[in-house]
Amino acid sequence: MKHSTKLITALDVDSFEKSRKLVDLLCPKVKIFKVGLQLYLACGDKIIRYINKKGGKVFLDLKFHDIPNTVGRASAEIVKLGVLMFNVHAQGGKDMMRQARIDADKEAKRLRKKKPVILGVTVLTSQQDTSTTVRVMELAREAREAGLDGVVCSANEAVVIRRGFGREFIIVTPGIRPAGAQVNDQKRISTPAQAKSCGVDYIVVGRPIIEADKPLKAAQGILADVR
Ligand code: C5P
Repeated sequence: MKHSTKLITALDVDSFEKSRKLVDLLCPKVKIFKVGLQLYLACGDKIIRYINKKGGKVFLDLKFHDIPNTVGRASAEIVKLGVLMFNVHAQGGKDMMRQARIDADKEAKRLRKKKPVILGVTVLTSQQDTSTTVRVMELAREAREAGLDGVVCSANEAVVIRRGFGREFIIVTPGIRPAGAQVNDQKRISTPAQAKSCGVDYIVVGRPIIEADKPLKAAQGILADVR
C-alpha cells in the first residue's frame, strides 16, 4: 500500500479572529489544524468548536509534562473538547504517559467518544546534539510501551522509528521547510517531500503557510509535494 503523508497546519496566531480567518481560507484543502499554547491561551476551546463545526479536525498541542495524576486528569479534560489528537512530553516518563492513556480512554468510554490519538513528544525539532537519534529512539520505545499511538520527531529519526516500531505507529513531524523557506528557530528540518520519503504520517507546518503572502497557495504547494 502506498504511504500517505497528511498535512497539519499550525494555527500559531494570537486571537480567535486571526485563526478563524485562516481556517476559513484553508479548510477543506487543509483538514487538520494544530492548536498550540499561544492560541489555546488566547481563545480557549472556541477555536476547537469552530474547526469541528467546519468539518476539520484538531491536534491540540499542549505538550503535557507533569506528575502522572495531573497529566491523567488533564488528558480526561481534553477528551471532552473533542480533538483528534493531543500530546504529552515523552520525557515525563512511562508512568505519566500510561496515566494519560488510561484516563483519556476511560473518559472517551464514559462519553461514548472515539479514543483520542495520543502522541509522545520526543526531542523538540528546535534542539539538536550528537545523541539525538538514540534519545529519540529510547523515548519512542517508552511511549509505545506506555500505550501511546505514536510520537512527534523529526524526519531524521522517522526512518529508524518506522523500521523499529512498524507501520501502525504514528509519526508526526514538525520542522518542515519547503526548499528555500526561512528556517526560523527550527534545527532538525526537512522538506515536505523528504518527510514523506522517510515514512512520516503527518507533517506539521506553521510559519511557511500562515506567514505566506498567500497561505492557501503555500498549503497547496506543500500538499502537492506530499501527494
Ligand atoms: O512555524 P513552524 O512550522 O516551525 O511551526 C511548527 C509547529 O510545531 C509549532 O507550533 C511548534 O510548537 C510545533 N512543534 C515543534 N516541535 C515539536 C512539537 C511541536 O515545532 N517537537
